[in-house]
Parts: sequence; structure tokens; C-alpha cells
Amino acid sequence: MNTLESAFDILHCPSCGEPLAPAEGGATCANRHRFDSARQGYLSLRAAHKGKGKPASGDTVEMLEARERFQAAGFHDEITAAVLEQVPAEAAGWLADIGGGTGHYAARILDDRPALRGLVLDASTSAVRIATRAHERLAAVSADVWTGIPLRDGSVDLALRVFAPGSASELRRILAPGGTAIVVVPEAEHLRELGHGLKLMRVPAGKAEEMAASIPDAASVVSVPVRRRVQLTVEQALDAVFMGPNAFHQDREKVAAVLQEWTAPISVTIAVTVVAITVA
Ligand SMILES: C[S@@+](CC[C@H](N)C(=O)[O-])C[C@H]1O[C@@H](n2cnc3c(N)ncnc32)[C@H](O)[C@@H]1O
Ligand SMILES: [Zn+2]
Repeated sequence: MNTLESAFDILHCPSCGEPLAPAEGGATCANRHRFDSARQGYLSLRAAHKGKGKPASGDTVEMLEARERFQAAGFHDEITAAVLEQVPAEAAGWLADIGGGTGHYAARILDDRPALRGLVLDASTSAVRIATRAHERLAAVSADVWTGIPLRDGSVDLALRVFAPGSASELRRILAPGGTAIVVVPEAEHLRELGHGLKLMRVPAGKAEEMAASIPDAASVVSVPVRRRVQLTVEQALDAVFMGPNAFHQDREKVAAVLQEWTAPISVTIAVTVVAITVA
């Protein structure tokens, strides 16, 4: 059985919350909601869009490529190490990577923990396409986590959310007894230098504390700050801007024109907090 087939043990219908079962060409629930699997190997679990505005479509190919280059250059290696440090040594069962993108962090964890299987959930179909191929014990689902995580209550042993959106109550709901949630939140200083002369989105401070306090029945909460200064070329600085939500509001050529004026290497702060919450 491949990883996506075994994930039916934990998946539920994003429309009604009933367990999902495999069906011809995808998945279905007892209320006959139907979902398609894509040729590229992922399952699309999108509930009918209610609410105002457009449904979340997640990161574009350009954003994913910028992030992959930035990660491949090693600028997030300390974050990866700090995350791995918080994964219980005997972790087994299911890992869910919420807003997991291309599966960068999930794949590293699966490498180190052979008894885990993983599922990336992300709104970006371009991201989940890559995530399905990121590790043999990793499957991927396209989903909008703001409308709920399509996983059963208490079904995952390790939940991960790195630079990604979602509610704490949903994270708590999917955790199995004794399970751990690891959340990486940017601090106010994160990539702060890139804001000089550019009107970039600011990160509101204090998110890590909020996160740590948001699961009231936590048995243990560990907060680990990760701080580092990195030296970037202009191209890498552009990637740092365009791998995140600024990509939706900024023009690459205009930002490039500003950054060209700076003297490389551009010294930039990486500042995040890794919060690990274990429940009873
Ligand atoms: C900054 S990226 C982080 C990706 C990955 N965790 C990493 O660090 O490599 C944020 C991710 O959240 C996804 N995302 C944004 N809104 C989402 C939503 N409503 N539901 C699911 N995923 C979402 C994006 O597509 C993107 O892959
Ligand atoms: Zn249903």
C-alpha cells in the first residue's frame, strides 16, 4: 500500500467530517461528497467554497522556486535542526505538515524517523505536486486549512506548521494523545533589513507566545529561539522577499531596482521561534 492509500486511515471529508474512503479516481464519504486525485499523485480535498473572496490558492511556482533556492543555499538549516531537535526520538505513526509546501521539512523528519509516515497539506497545487515526490513515506493533499484540516480527530502523532497559516484549535483537534505540535513562527526582526526602503509586510511581534498559550491543555511547551545573520547576494535577497506573502503585493523589477542600489553582501537577520507543544 502506498502512503496516500494508507492515509485514508486519517483523512476525513472537508465538507462534512465523515471518514473518507478511496473511490474510483479519488475519494468519497458516506454523504457521497466526491474528491478527485490528480494524475500527479496527490488528492484534492477542497470543500465547496462558501464565504466571500477567492478560495486560498497558496504559493505560486515562482514563490516555491524562490523558497527552494533559499533553503538549498542553507539559510534555513538552523531552523531545520531546531525542528528536528523537538521531534520525539521514538516518533511513530503520522506526521501532518500543515501548509507544508514542497515537503522540505517533512522529508527531513522522515529521513530521521523511520517509523513515521507523513502527509503534506497545502493550498498550492504546484507545491503538493512536488511534495508527493519529496519522500517515499510522504503523501500530499491539496486543501485550504482555513476551512478546516481534513484529518480525523486525534489522528496524528506529530503536527508541523512552518511559516504557514492555520488555527491552533484545528492543530489541537488532530493531535493524538501524547502527540506533539511543532510550530515555527517568525519574529519581528525576521528579514527586517529587507524592509529598508521597501514597503514590505511586517510580522506582528509576540506570535510565538500566542501560539504557546493557544493550546490550553498542553502537557509541555518548549520555545526555542533561532537567530542568525546571513549574507545574501542581491538575487538571494530577492528570493527572500519573493518566497513569502510579499510576492502578492510587490513588483519584482521594482524591488530589484531598490536592492541593486545596496552593497552586496546584504546582511539579513533570520529570527524565528520554534514552539513545541506536547499534549497529554
Ligand atoms: C511560507 S510557505 C511555507 C512552506 C513550508 N512550510 C516551508 O517552510 O518550506 C507557506 C505555505 O502555506 C501555504 N498556504 C497558504 N495559505 C494556505 C491555506 N489557506 N491552506 C493551506 N495552505 C496554505 C502556501 O501555499 C505555502 O506553501
Ligand atoms: Zn462528506
